[in-house]
Amino acid sequence: MKSIDEIRKEIESYKIENAEAMEQFRLQFLSKKSELQSMFSQIKDIAPEERKSFGQMVNELKDKAQQRLEEYRGKLEAAACAHSGIADVTRPSRNIAMGSMHPISIMMNQVRRIFEDIGYTAVTGPDIEDDWHVFTALNFAEEHPARDMQDTFFVELHPDILLRTHTSSLQVRTMENQQPPIRVICPGRVFRNEAITSRAHCIFHQVEGLYVAENVSFADMKQTLLYFAQRMFGPDVRIRLRPSYFPFTEPSAEMDISCYICGGEGCNLCKHTGWVEILGCGMVDPNVLENCGIDPNKYSGFAFGLGIERMTMLKYTTNDIRLYFENDVRFLQQFKAATK
Ligand code: DAH
Repeated sequence: MKSIDEIRKEIESYKIENAEAMEQFRLQFLSKKSELQSMFSQIKDIAPEERKSFGQMVNELKDKAQQRLEEYRGKLEAAACAHSGIADVTRPSRNIAMGSMHPISIMMNQVRRIFEDIGYTAVTGPDIEDDWHVFTALNFAEEHPARDMQDTFFVELHPDILLRTHTSSLQVRTMENQQPPIRVICPGRVFRNEAITSRAHCIFHQVEGLYVAENVSFADMKQTLLYFAQRMFGPDVRIRLRPSYFPFTEPSAEMDISCYICGGEGCNLCKHTGWVEILGCGMVDPNVLENCGIDPNKYSGFAFGLGIERMTMLKYTTNDIRLYFENDVRFLQQFKAATK
């Protein structure tokens, strides 16, 4: 039987240069059948007064062997890495830069989800439209100023082909292809020949909504829009409808929500009125139903249209619409938490 001293010397002088030697070392000093292990089993036979110090020494030896093994394992791994061209496996990895969704997409998805939850289906359509789908079918009079070149981008000055000025064109496309009941929302990009300022842009986004069925009433519209406002801005939000005019709805209204910043008390956002305008709406004009091949004596419906940039500016209290088009990452990255 080797003495503790002998084993210590062996551990200290053992040459470990490769993986096999390392395994040999492990078998000899640390496995269940090793000399050290058999010393552990002898502890119980040792005279009680020596037992403690003997036990301590055997434990120290085991720690030493363990230490050497780890040390060599590290060295061998580093050598293997150097050989394979990997510099340092222990180095922390580089940060992966996470992107964020664009605020306009976030808002589009939110609006979409709210309406999909109550049975609306999202439909899309072309950005480049004809006069019929953007104006004529929607009951715009021949001389309506929206048709003017000052408001509308025409494609190569062709009087019939233009960039849609609103997503209401999708009402027409949907009704032309489908009989009631119809329940759709139409998200999309729209274009207007306007000077770019902090409040207006020549490109922006809208979501149009349309519900046509038998006996659809103004009360149905009001309740649907209240549901929308409360899901978007919180359960305490109230709505108010003001009479307005759109060629394609009769009666028409503009909808305000109670200011969610001050709760209606009056603040900068609501210009001290307690109310903020968020969308246009109304009962689909019978002429429009007829233009699209739907019997106005049998069916009625409501429609609404809201501006996504405006909603986003209200929800995230930003005051310059241009921020949404400049794509400055310092601005966009602030929407990381809202990205879903
Ligand atoms: N198309 C209108 C616009 O661009 C928005 C709108 C208002 C749509 C009332 C509607 C509506 O469907 O009923 O300003």
